Amino acid sequence: MAALFDKKYVFFGGKGGTGKTTCAAAFSLKASEMKKKVLLVSTDPAHSLSDIYDTSIGPKGAQLSDNLFAIEIDPEVEAKKYIEGIKRQLSGVVSNVVIEALQKQIDAAYMSPGSEEAAIFDKFIEIMESSEKKFDLVVFDTAPTGHTLRLLSLPKLLGLWINSLIEKRKNAVKLLEKASGVKNDDPVLRILQNRKNMFEKAWNILSDFRQTAFVFVLTPERLPIFETERAMQYLEHSGIKVAGVVVNGVIPQAAEGAFMNKRREVQNRYIREIHGKFKEKVLAEIDLLDEDIWGIDNLRRIAEML
Ligand SMILES: Nc1ncnc2c1ncn2[C@@H]1O[C@H](COP(=O)(O)OP(=O)(O)OP(=O)(O)O)[C@@H](O)[C@H]1O
Ligand SMILES: [Mg+2]
Repeated sequence: MAALFDKKYVFFGGKGGTGKTTCAAAFSLKASEMKKKVLLVSTDPAHSLSDIYDTSIGPKGAQLSDNLFAIEIDPEVEAKKYIEGIKRQLSGVVSNVVIEALQKQIDAAYMSPGSEEAAIFDKFIEIMESSEKKFDLVVFDTAPTGHTLRLLSLPKLLGLWINSLIEKRKNAVKLLEKASGVKNDDPVLRILQNRKNMFEKAWNILSDFRQTAFVFVLTPERLPIFETERAMQYLEHSGIKVAGVVVNGVIPQAAEGAFMNKRREVQNRYIREIHGKFKEKVLAEIDLLDEDIWGIDNLRRIAEML
């Protein structure tokens, strides 16, 4: 786990309810206490970070301590802004009549699956760019596995898609230039090129193991193990190396009684399975605490086990 504190971007992912937010918050706290300037980013519309730190964070962000800053992004709000942005960009380059015709399609796109991910992805890139110099470490507390994977596969997919758009546009511009005899600096092409550069940059960061780390949080149970295994394969297949897994919610030795002993036996079996499957990628085991986790003191207890 120690090596993760030297990264620039750390993503916490995993199945719902396994402790992603808790681990991201504890990791960020510890890094900030190691004198790193940390930004913790959450895309959970339920405002879990605010609840954990017992303060209001929101989309404007808040300073939690000397070195620790946090921001909560609302996917729905971001999707709306994203679509507005596209409309604005278009209004500079195509006529109002076309805009009106496009309006319905754009609004439909806002409702379509994937637009929230696309919007959050844009926001992630924006945050990475704006925090590159301001922070030593940016920690992302992500949504459950499925969404995160879709999100991370976006730069590649969008890159391919944009490439084909660029080619089409280039051909159109060429024809236009031939017909009119004048060279023109095509604004649409410029927008597309900008997007392409942005996706390339994002992909370079996401796939760079030296500066970016992905950590899966799982509990010692059957389904989280399956989900983590699948997610890991997916990421590695798409060219993103996974830094490791954190096992959360391990019943501590001190817990007694027949029920606890039985549960521990079951957990131990899964913990052995986790070590067998993920080997040196098992970065930490975190005990189940005797209370739910919010506030600095409990986060420190978790951080000590990271
Ligand atoms: N080690 C632990 N000991 C005790 N309680 C824990 C531990 N880890 C997490 N919890 C509790 O479990 C609940 C879920 O944790 P958390 O919110 O971190 O999960 P999550 O993976 O972020 O969930 P979601 O998928 O909903 O975002 C919280 O109430 C948290 O306080
Ligand atoms: Mg969470």
